Amino acid sequence: MRTPLVIGNWKMHGTSASNHQLLEQLLPLLKPDTQVAIAVCPPYPYLSQVKAMIGGNLALGAQNLNMQEKGAHTGEVSGPMLKDTGCRYVLVGHSERREIYGESDLIIAEKFAVAVASELIPVLCVGETLKQRKTGQSIEVVSSQIKSVIQRNGIQSFANAVIAYEPVWAIGTGETATPAQAQEVHQKIRELIGEYDISIAETLPLLYGGSVNASNATSLFNQPDVDGGLVGGASLNAESFAAICQAAS
Ligand code: 13P
Repeated sequence: MRTPLVIGNWKMHGTSASNHQLLEQLLPLLKPDTQVAIAVCPPYPYLSQVKAMIGGNLALGAQNLNMQEKGAHTGEVSGPMLKDTGCRYVLVGHSERREIYGESDLIIAEKFAVAVASELIPVLCVGETLKQRKTGQSIEVVSSQIKSVIQRNGIQSFANAVIAYEPVWAIGTGETATPAQAQEVHQKIRELIGEYDISIAETLPLLYGGSVNASNATSLFNQPDVDGGLVGGASLNAESFAAICQAAS
């Protein structure tokens, strides 16, 4: 039995004032007794602010980490620092990191290793571009992104991890994968993990991300291999995010 999980990725949005307002609106809307794990990933400067306001089944996550544990890396933030700040989760290999900041599968595998070593739960983001989908490469691309992490870290590193399938063409575009499209890829991901370790495959939470909103969340989360969502834009609105969390319960 997998506990549903919904993670809000705030990306590079917010101010102290808007974060405070968002959480003040959101917290009363989240039902304390729901069997859903929830997290929000604010930008680094606001991790402590958000940590001080949240609790219960709402946890803290970060959007990125450095591939080294410490050292002369001006401007970077380490896994141990995120752990120390109270993070439970960290996104690894978001498509915006891959595309805009040139993060390779190799770098992402290293970051995943540091996340695990820092006792953070890595949320490995994978997904194909529109061109790759149109040429029938979705499964191949996603599989290869996952395999590079398994090769570097071993399958046991997924014992306390999350995979988020985020088709690049669905991120911030308003175009969502259909529930069938999401299920097809999620099922293949679970099969792939199962080739290495069947019990990890059965317990590994697989999130869908890409234009998830209050209207489409239920049909996506109803798919047998979709265990929740990684939500961008809609996580910045308290009512929408609460409704998405409710849909996962
Ligand atoms: P949107 O929900 O805004 O499409 O963003 C998805 C995403 O990238 C979450 O990490």
